[in-house]
Amino acid sequence: MIVMVGLPARGKTYISKKLTRYLNWIGVPTKVFNVGQYRREAVKTYKNFEFFKPDNEEAMRIRKACASAALKDVSAYFTKEHGQVAVFDATNTTRERRAIIISFAKERGYKVFFVESICEDPEIIAENIKQVKFGSPDYVDRDIDEAMEDFIQRIECYRANYMSIDDEKDRKLSYIKIFDVGSRYLVNRVQDHIQSRIVYYLMNIHVTPRSIYLSRHGESELNLSGRIGGDAGLSSRGQKYANALATFMRGQTIKDLKVWTSHMKRTIQTAEALGVQYEQWKALNEIDAGVCEEMTYEEIQENFPEEFALRDQDKYRYRYPKGEVSGLRSSWSWNGKKMSWLSTNLQV
Ligand SMILES: *[C@@H]1O[C@H](CO)[C@@H](O)[C@H](O)[C@H]1NC(C)=O
Ligand SMILES: *[C@@H]1O[C@H](CO)[C@@H](O)[C@H](O)[C@H]1NC(C)=O
Repeated sequence: MIVMVGLPARGKTYISKKLTRYLNWIGVPTKVFNVGQYRREAVKTYKNFEFFKPDNEEAMRIRKACASAALKDVSAYFTKEHGQVAVFDATNTTRERRAIIISFAKERGYKVFFVESICEDPEIIAENIKQVKFGSPDYVDRDIDEAMEDFIQRIECYRANYMSIDDEKDRKLSYIKIFDVGSRYLVNRVQDHIQSRIVYYLMNIHVTPRSIYLSRHGESELNLSGRIGGDAGLSSRGQKYANALATFMRGQTIKDLKVWTSHMKRTIQTAEALGVQYEQWKALNEIDAGVCEEMTYEEIQENFPEEFALRDQDKYRYRYPKGEVSGLRSSWSWNGKKMSWLSTNLQV
């Protein structure tokens, strides 16, 4: 269980969703359990922040019930749906509340990893409030200023009871604290491979939007003869493409452009023209065509007619003999067993 901790508008839901998408992508079945959603189910119309006041007993009862319902669903997810990681996206924030989650997990043999987002930078908080809460079902059809005001009050309700994970008292727990959306981190007692992947991922996500440009390489010498794979350099038309790409990219005036290529000559030569530093990633290599490397499609059809037909039927999952499968390179078979990577080096 990954348990989110922190005041509202600290990016917990954003982190939960991103982390969940990432873990699923690397082959670890993961699901988010957002306690706020349970609350919205239980209390159909949200009036105002008074609901979140620590002395609102009726509301407190409802909130506790929601948290327990979510925990129950977590355990169903593990036992009935083959889930491996549950991200518990709740605001709470007190040591007592965390103790409940810890004992729930302990009874069932789940490992717990806390992710606390701590942020006191008023600008970042204001930005978060705007982004998240104006899309929130709690505030549809509300005046913007009114919604903003209510949400700020709501944060104060939580602040009254909020206890940050304590470096001394909670030293036995496994956790990461993220300060000011990643300007500083504190990591404690990472227990296993998945947790270290999570830490690595959380230390590398960005909260500000950015653009990713994808380009293929210019035409290669092997392209000229219609042969697939291999590791040829660019043809003269390929070089022209590289120069045109460089002109285009200069036109985009990107301050801190980062360039990634595969290990193939054709992509490196294409990137060279940009005139900036680049990193080479093996994970970006085109899939290996095995025994068909450097053949033309005609030759493949002639020498391996069955293979050719199979590839036509399902290009995405097809694998050349002794080659690699397409898809996400996440699984392959070996001696009739299904194998899969738990890891991939490439993160975007
Ligand atoms: C936060 O913790 C307090 C104290 O344990 C609890 O009364 C309250 O219900 C918790 N809030 C949520 C949303 O779980
Ligand atoms: C050029 O060669 C690469 C590497 O085999 C291949 O992926 C690409 O599709 C080829 N381009 C064309 C236009 O055939």
